[in-house]
Amino acid sequence: MSPAGAASGLGISVRAKRFAAVGAAPPKLVIKDLQLQVPDSGLVALFGPSGCGKTTLLNLIAGLDREFEGRIDLPADWRIGYVFQEPRLLPWLTVEDNLRLVLPDPDDAPGKIAEWLAAMELVDIGKVYPNRISLGMARRVALARAFIIDPDLLLMDEPFVSLDEPTAQRLRTLLLATLQAHPTTVLFVTHNLREAIMLADRLVLLSGPPSHVQQEIAVDLTAAERADEAAIERFRAEVLSQALPEGPLR
Ligand SMILES: Nc1ncnc2c1ncn2[C@@H]1O[C@H](COP(=O)(O)OP(=O)(O)OP(=O)(O)O)[C@@H](O)[C@H]1O
Ligand SMILES: [Mg+2]
Repeated sequence: MSPAGAASGLGISVRAKRFAAVGAAPPKLVIKDLQLQVPDSGLVALFGPSGCGKTTLLNLIAGLDREFEGRIDLPADWRIGYVFQEPRLLPWLTVEDNLRLVLPDPDDAPGKIAEWLAAMELVDIGKVYPNRISLGMARRVALARAFIIDPDLLLMDEPFVSLDEPTAQRLRTLLLATLQAHPTTVLFVTHNLREAIMLADRLVLLSGPPSHVQQEIAVDLTAAERADEAAIERFRAEVLSQALPEGPLR
């Protein structure tokens, strides 16, 4: 995936990310001295209290916000899929056209769109506009839009919230199967520890603001254990006993 000799994986080193004062709100230091390495094909789950800067960090990695001190290193040829915290579909395009828009090669479009509409159980709403679909459906369209480009790096910002639990669980299983078939480097923001244990190789706990890495915990479970609720529950208890006080899991 990365060219020979190039650094592999995603390297994050943010010395400082500030937002300027807006109106009566003072300037704000949101990220300070945050270092994180996500290896090629690794899945890192990011935890942190609300407002600590997780979405801000994903925006820096995606290149949507370039005003910060530090560096983000990733191979130049990587395609980035981003599942935003809100679905952010374009309201003037149908569901299908929202997917078509991100595809570089129009010849690929019909097959890929059909494939991802089916995978996300959206075949009936391809021709519908986003203001006529539910939030859960919009979330699934946003997932399809990120997967459809075969990303090398997938940024996922609480992608499974506001879905009913059986649908969320189906999509987690689909994510694992998709990653098995197409190894991808993933950074996944969640507040759900069970979900993170099922999916991630590593949990990264942020504290703040300003956010920085407080603790990293490896998740060394087999595929069979990840599919076993009791094994996840056991590991969850272990994580909670290891988690430092003042962290996002306490
Ligand atoms: N464009 C902006 N201008 C000014 N301040 C901002 C801007 N975007 C975010 N912030 C502030 O930066 C801080 C971090 O916001 P961010 O959205 O990254 O938090 P988060 O960790 O993703 O929270 P949540 O878990 O609630 O999604 C918050 O205090 C927020 O108000
Ligand atoms: Mg956020």
